[in-house]
Amino acid sequence: MTVDVVRGWLRAADRVVLLSGAGMSAESGVPTFRDAQTGLWAKFRPEDLATEDAFRRDPRMVWDWYAMRREMVAKVSPNAGHLAVAAFQQRHPGRLTVATQNVDGLHQGAGSPGVLALHGNVAEDKWLDASRPCCLAQTPVPGHPPSCATCGNLRRPAVVWFGEMLPADVLAAAEEAAAACDLMLVVGTSGVVYPAAGLARATRGRVVVVNPVASELDDAADVVLRGTAATLLPQLLED
Ligand code: APR
Repeated sequence: MTVDVVRGWLRAADRVVLLSGAGMSAESGVPTFRDAQTGLWAKFRPEDLATEDAFRRDPRMVWDWYAMRREMVAKVSPNAGHLAVAAFQQRHPGRLTVATQNVDGLHQGAGSPGVLALHGNVAEDKWLDASRPCCLAQTPVPGHPPSCATCGNLRRPAVVWFGEMLPADVLAAAEEAAAACDLMLVVGTSGVVYPAAGLARATRGRVVVVNPVASELDDAADVVLRGTAATLLPQLLED
């Protein structure tokens, strides 16, 4: 019954936002973060890997860890959930905006346009310190991490680390979309990391949580669908 109710809300919605987290990519084989057994943070401490301090302490270790994640993500494919979202966007141009916490590029790989990558993209890197003319004038010296031959500036993963600000333009676009939407699908997130999770509390639209287990955003939901992204999103989004 509740899937049909949500399908009705989707049909009536002029503007939809899909806020996704690591669970969106779980059925593509990408580990989530906080699963007690398989989560990345069950094996590694975020403060040892996902902070600027960690990178400055041990650039090689952090660079290589993200290179391992980059290689892993390059081998996986969008799942039926990503594909259902992209197909919906293709059939209904401009009606659904994806704002994702994921850095795996799978929404983009599925063909979703205009993805708001709140936490960046693990496939990209950037200068650790503000780039100087010397950094821009030449290709980085290969290494773990690559660096500027002249000033030694290091390349770092282009992802948002704990304690860092989200890209202001991306966050502003996501906040605007959340404020204006009629319906927000919150898919595969524990809802513990802000400001991303705050989007589900700032929306004026109805909120539907899609998650096989309880999340911190269940209390913000009008409806909670207990199931997985790759199972439920095709049911919800097919015309
Ligand atoms: N379908 C839908 N949801 C799923 C699935 C699935 N197949 N498998 C797991 N989940 C749910 C889990 O129940 C959990 O609630 O996905 C959620 C994943 O939660 P987290 O591992 O905490 O990931 P996320 O919410 O994206 O973390 C947010 O924290 O570490 C930082 O920057 C990192 O972007 C990440 C942020």
